Amino acid sequence: MKTIAIDGPSGAGKSAIASALAKRLGYEYIDTGALYRTIAYIAVREGGDLSTKELLKRVDAQSIDYKDGAVQLNGEALGDVIRTEAISQKTSQLSKEPAVRDYLLSLQRRLAEDGGVVMEGRDIGTVVLPSADVKFFLTASEEERARRRYEQRLAFGEAVDMETIKADIHARDERDKNRAVAPLKQAADAILVDSTAMSEEEVLDTMVNYVENGHVL
Ligand code: DC
Repeated sequence: MKTIAIDGPSGAGKSAIASALAKRLGYEYIDTGALYRTIAYIAVREGGDLSTKELLKRVDAQSIDYKDGAVQLNGEALGDVIRTEAISQKTSQLSKEPAVRDYLLSLQRRLAEDGGVVMEGRDIGTVVLPSADVKFFLTASEEERARRRYEQRLAFGEAVDMETIKADIHARDERDKNRAVAPLKQAADAILVDSTAMSEEEVLDTMVNYVENGHVL
């Protein structure tokens, strides 16, 4: 049972690919972005402008866990309420905070300790699981990622504007790449997969082949 890390920018298709890869391998899928989003969700619910210290105190008073492919807050799965654009922006701001990252580090490591997991995020191969058995860095052009996000928002029934989405993706990328702690970057030993011109099936086949045979197709 291996430990597999998938990192990359938002909109590269990480979640869909990581969960499909986990299913193919019979592994558990862990979406670490959902853990960060849950903290942002609590922050917004508690009024938005708490200091990080106060926020983490309130987070600590609740129970955050991960079961059956979803975050559980106080024993209940959170659905799409953590996926709105407002929560995405709040999550990106909070995930710059070292205290927030520290808070989630031990939970993430505990979730991976028995192996048999595909863990997806931004710093899994570099910080959370530096000795993961297989690391992938999944990316796609900014244009293509904006297009995919646009389709996703439409499907959620949110009002969308392509230019706003592009600007948001760009801003989020810059923040995720340039933050001082655990920035988004490819681990030296990660396999780069650029999905710009690949179907989900092609990405998946490439990854499964690498996990099983140790080389790219
Ligand atoms: O993957 P996502 O879009 O759900 O991630 C939401 C935000 O959380 C994104 O701005 C980056 C941040 N994040 C992070 O900093 N580290 C992780 N391991 C996962 C997500």
